[in-house]
Amino acid sequence: MDYETILVSKEGKVGIITLNRPQALNALSTKMVHELTAALDEFGKDDEVRSVVVAGNDRAFSAGADIKEMADMTAVQMAMGEHFFALWNKVGRFPKPLVGAITGFALGGGLELAMSLDVLVAADTAQLGQPEINIGVIPGGGGTQRLTRAVGKSKAMEMILSDKRIGAEEAKTLGLVSRVVPKEVCVDEAKKVAAEIATKSPVAIKLAKMAINKAFEMGLSDGLDFERELFYMLFASEDAKEGMHAFMDKRKPEFRGR
Ligand code: CAA
Repeated sequence: MDYETILVSKEGKVGIITLNRPQALNALSTKMVHELTAALDEFGKDDEVRSVVVAGNDRAFSAGADIKEMADMTAVQMAMGEHFFALWNKVGRFPKPLVGAITGFALGGGLELAMSLDVLVAADTAQLGQPEINIGVIPGGGGTQRLTRAVGKSKAMEMILSDKRIGAEEAKTLGLVSRVVPKEVCVDEAKKVAAEIATKSPVAIKLAKMAINKAFEMGLSDGLDFERELFYMLFASEDAKEGMHAFMDKRKPEFRGR
């Protein structure tokens, strides 16, 4: 498929999506989110692809929803699917692991997109924030929920109510990103994380992602039961047998996603 607002490529078992509207700091237009979710759909169907990196450019991962596009929209147009919000949940529900390379600005919908991914590698230049309050709205892509779960109430309130932005190191201390690297190597580091994940059993990876995401939705006792069900289920996979036998044979496992 030809895309106008993103670049799409593959390196081995890793799919790579690069947001590519540099003139607008990768502001998320409806077209861009259509293309992003279409590319994810393609990678979802592609058995060769086992993990996906989502990146921006040096200046911006993404500066949020495209304000110029949104400015004159009505509530009805938004709710009836003329805006990207209709597609937004597809990112959070993508079954394969998503690794974000967060360089420069990750603001508003840009941070919300980042928080819909699974592992975040941040450049030392990253600036993360929810500045929607400055334009008279609130986060609409999950910010009030995901940010609060990630960093706690007080910090989320400060970030959302007063547009307090945080840098990469603070984001790491808060658990919002998992590591900070120099900006020059951020995308490569994200690719390495994705490539490492791609060596594991796709079946186990899918269920592990599902179980971790459920931790945000279920109480502890239900969550532990859910995890145990998935654990039992994995004993029906060829990959689990292969993994355990490869360990005993002192060889590398060959996971086939079955
Ligand atoms: N939407 C549309 N265009 C944007 C944009 C956005 N979110 N962010 C930046 N741009 C455009 C600018 O308009 C500018 O374009 P022009 O040259 O044509 O004027 C270009 O990108 C470069 O931006 P600046 O000149 O402003 O660059 P800067 O370095 O001076 O400032 C910035 C950078 C602090 C990120 C500033 O651009 C900014 O504040 N952007 C808006 C951030 C924001 O409010 N995001 C939240 C959007 S609402 C949302 O996301 C809702 C939701 O929950 C989904």
